[in-house]
Amino acid sequence: MNKEIIEKKLKNTLSENRFRHSLSVARESEKLAKFHKVPVELAYLAGIMHDCAKEFSVRDSLEILKKHNVALDKISLNENKLLHAHVGAIVAREEYGIKDSQVLDAIRYHTTAKENMSSLLKIIYVSDSIDPTKKHDSTAYVRRLSFNNLNKASLVVLTETINRLISRNSLIHPNTFQARNDLIIKSIKIFKKKVN
Ligand SMILES: [Fe+2]
Ligand SMILES: [Fe+2]
Repeated sequence: MNKEIIEKKLKNTLSENRFRHSLSVARESEKLAKFHKVPVELAYLAGIMHDCAKEFSVRDSLEILKKHNVALDKISLNENKLLHAHVGAIVAREEYGIKDSQVLDAIRYHTTAKENMSSLLKIIYVSDSIDPTKKHDSTAYVRRLSFNNLNKASLVVLTETINRLISRNSLIHPNTFQARNDLIIKSIKIFKKKVN
């Protein structure tokens, strides 16, 4: 499926705001991918598709997961916001013919993040957070940082997300903690290497 067909199909499925957000994430992801030498086409695909299932009902989402034998953990099943990432990866594969495993992974984990993130996943994770529609105070800072150091930018977003979820008394998926711990451990290792 080419770019035009994907956009046309998504435009018919998503609300106007969600479609605009998806386009904006795709464009930001393309810029970051170019800068960090990640294939730009993959960044576009993951960016444009990341919220393709965001407006599905919980009932439809659970049905799709069941049909494709995807068993989710207790936290993902009890937090509606987490469902759409997993369902989105299925929809991208089944209805949009996207086969690239890195793209599907970036869609699947764009909400929680995870340990050992690919550069593509970090790009989608950060681009999703700095989209102007989200109006986070740190947007300008994170955008600047993301062109300098993708790990540091991801770490800032992960910390802010965890803080926000705690202040709202929301569930927090273990993948989010693992992603943050992983990036901190890696940054300590880099620091030790530089010192030695
Ligand atoms: Fe999302
Ligand atoms: Fe999004």
